[in-house]
Amino acid sequence: MSLRTPLVFNILAECGTTKARASKMILPHREIDTPVFMPVGTQGTLKGLLTEQLDNLGLQIMLANTYHLGIKPGVEVLKKAGGLHKFMNWNGALLTDSGGFQMVSLLKLAEITEQGVKFGSLNENKSEIVLTPEHSIEIQNAIGADIIMQLDDVVKTTSLDYIRIEEAMYRTTRWLDRCLQAHKRSNDQNIFPIVQGTLNRELRTTSAKAHMDRDVRGFAIGGLSGGESKDDFWKMVHLSTDILPKDKPRYLMGVGFAVDLVVCSALGVDMYDCVFPTRTARFGCALVMKGQLNLKQKVYKTDLNPIDKDCDCSTCKTYTRAYLHHIATIHTISCHLLTVHNVAFQLRLMKNIHESIKENKFVKFVENFMANLHPDKD
Ligand code: GUN
Ligand code: ZN
Repeated sequence: MSLRTPLVFNILAECGTTKARASKMILPHREIDTPVFMPVGTQGTLKGLLTEQLDNLGLQIMLANTYHLGIKPGVEVLKKAGGLHKFMNWNGALLTDSGGFQMVSLLKLAEITEQGVKFGSLNENKSEIVLTPEHSIEIQNAIGADIIMQLDDVVKTTSLDYIRIEEAMYRTTRWLDRCLQAHKRSNDQNIFPIVQGTLNRELRTTSAKAHMDRDVRGFAIGGLSGGESKDDFWKMVHLSTDILPKDKPRYLMGVGFAVDLVVCSALGVDMYDCVFPTRTARFGCALVMKGQLNLKQKVYKTDLNPIDKDCDCSTCKTYTRAYLHHIATIHTISCHLLTVHNVAFQLRLMKNIHESIKENKFVKFVENFMANLHPDKD
């Protein structure tokens, strides 16, 4: 058993103008440079990439999902394998989301009660299962990720049902206490609470303050990026980072567009995850500073440039847009080459944010980033 706390958050530099900060976060499996983007490998694989290719890309931390892994391979196999790190041969850091959110948002079959999240499962016998806070933590303890998430009750930001929004916010705190009680590995796994409350300032403030009373090493901001306007989204992030303690990491869940990573880092967020970069790669889209290129489009048929001449990923160093257009229908290889590029794109963006904060050039970085995004405006 390690005597060191399983999370050390060393702030290396703060921007004098914005709330941005750069840190070295020390987790049991790896040191992480923040702000950090965590690609999502739902089932314990980043689709299209081998684990050793993740190392080559310089990936420090990735995300996996409790619900999927709890169904398949299941707790018994995960325990027998010695946890997900060993099972998938990954020596970097891992974070697991608690499971309920994905099922509620993806399957729309879930029913939420005080007990937990109930749904018809994806397993062969189609039996109904209830994911309780205790069960989510049991699975996450078996997976063994460096950071694990509480089970939360999430309401869409577009909901106008105040009674339901308030109920979900208070229930999330009650479930947090059940998760903390059930957690058996606080010596080597960090559990993060999740601030809820949709777009309501009072509820979000109450949620953040309640969670700050608990003995935890970091905080997540949840329930955003679900169809609300950018203005509402950024206001809620700003409010949350104003309340949450400065000396602990802040994780904004489900956010991965480049512009949001830049703006929310300016608002003091340290960690992000999103399926977007890897999912869009599987649809034939490559990320670039101005947005994305859909390589299936005919305009790329004769384009012998790389996706991005300034990208040093193996795809850009080796292949042209015309070739990627040509193989777009050969799914496995196209998926691999574009996933390499999109993960490299996200990691480079975060590295540039981290370095610019350390060099006291973050404001200039944001100006350049925005000018590139909207090249026609002055
Ligand atoms: N992923 C994106 N948003 C959320 C959220 O609010 N809760 C959880 N558990 N996962 C998320
Ligand atoms: Zn590239």
